[in-house]
Amino acid sequence: MAVKEEWEALSAECAGCRACPLCETRTKLVFGVGNPQSEIMLIGEGPGEQEDLQGVPFVGPAGKLLDQMLEMIDLDRTKVYIANMVKCRPPRNRDPQPTEQEACRRWLDRQIALVDPKIIVCLGRIAAMGIIKEDFRITREHGQWFDVGGRRVMATYHPSALLRDVSKRPEAFMDLRALRKEIREICTRTY
Ligand code: URA
Repeated sequence: MAVKEEWEALSAECAGCRACPLCETRTKLVFGVGNPQSEIMLIGEGPGEQEDLQGVPFVGPAGKLLDQMLEMIDLDRTKVYIANMVKCRPPRNRDPQPTEQEACRRWLDRQIALVDPKIIVCLGRIAAMGIIKEDFRITREHGQWFDVGGRRVMATYHPSALLRDVSKRPEAFMDLRALRKEIREICTRTY
């Protein structure tokens, strides 16, 4: 199957997913957005209210901040691919439960395989615990690079955390600078 058809098949299959109870309460499934040929993938936690209504990741207040963060290092959502750990909104924006993350993981793993990014940035603790290691400590380990299955992976604070606590923003900016440097060093295309 050509890559374009694989993406179409994957998103159609995902749209019919009923593997966990989040499908009962969602408005729209939030699959992913951006450039599927990018060497850089960002992974968030799960859709919030606006994402659930629009079916697109990071379009609410946290998404606006994410766009500004990307702009600081000359990126935008046409240059990266963005997906979430879970594709359906957890009620009242609670953390997705481990069973929900497990049920949804099949889709994310296939997205990662299709994008085949050189660099993954986990946005926040939930993505970092799912992608890097179960006991990931965001305050201590954000900005550090890990090797996960041959990819360079880093976590930074979730933009929602940066909206709640502006004192964390300088540290997040340092993480973005580290990302910029890594992109220059290992990506083959220019961003
Ligand atoms: N927070 C996330 O983690 N993902 C979104 O898509 C929106 C908010």
